[in-house]
Amino acid sequence: MTVPSAPIEEPGAFYQGLVAALRERRAELEPGERSFGADRPLTRAEVLEWVKFQAWYELQAVRFIGAWLAAGTDEDDALQGLTRQIGDEARHYRLFNRNLEGLGGTLQGWRPEPEWVAWVCEFYASGDDTLERVAAHNITGELGAFQAFESMMPRVPASTRRVIEKVMPDEKFHIALGRSIVRRHATTADAQARVRARVWRAFELEQAGRAAYERRVSALRDVA
Ligand SMILES: [Fe+2]
Ligand SMILES: [Fe+2]
Repeated sequence: MTVPSAPIEEPGAFYQGLVAALRERRAELEPGERSFGADRPLTRAEVLEWVKFQAWYELQAVRFIGAWLAAGTDEDDALQGLTRQIGDEARHYRLFNRNLEGLGGTLQGWRPEPEWVAWVCEFYASGDDTLERVAAHNITGELGAFQAFESMMPRVPASTRRVIEKVMPDEKFHIALGRSIVRRHATTADAQARVRARVWRAFELEQAGRAAYERRVSALRDVA
């Protein structure tokens, strides 16, 4: 992807500018792209479908961060932070999967939407170096996940709410990890252009992923 050249910014200000731009763009989106289930009250089937998605997503995070480490993470700050993050995501998978089972659901036989595979399994797993990987997932992805948790909280059963409450502090750490890696390593115009490109591509894929959830639950509603 060709990225227009831009003057280099102080890395902290560069990061803050990206986060502010993401927040603005998100506020302009259609409800179905801005949040899972377009902020409306959810039926039990819709909640189950989100918990399945979330359990699956947490498991994929373990896998793609593991793939980053296997591909090579040279920065010692990133190596230590991402190693902790893998443990967190594995715990989140376990928590959501148990919650799913408690609600009477299972991931057995469940299939992700193609948009979720392109976004989570393919795009987040990709990236030429730590900066590109973390830009996509620990900026756009983790901020998006945090916003999704906030929007789901009032619309899910108490047992799911308790899981979200346990998970959210870890996601804050993952966001902070992305911020510190960008501040420390996005110090050239080229690095900042690559970060920017990954952030915005992840944002497009996230919207497509949320729209795919909307399509899936509309089909469930039609069946009901
Ligand atoms: Fe997580
Ligand atoms: Fe996370």
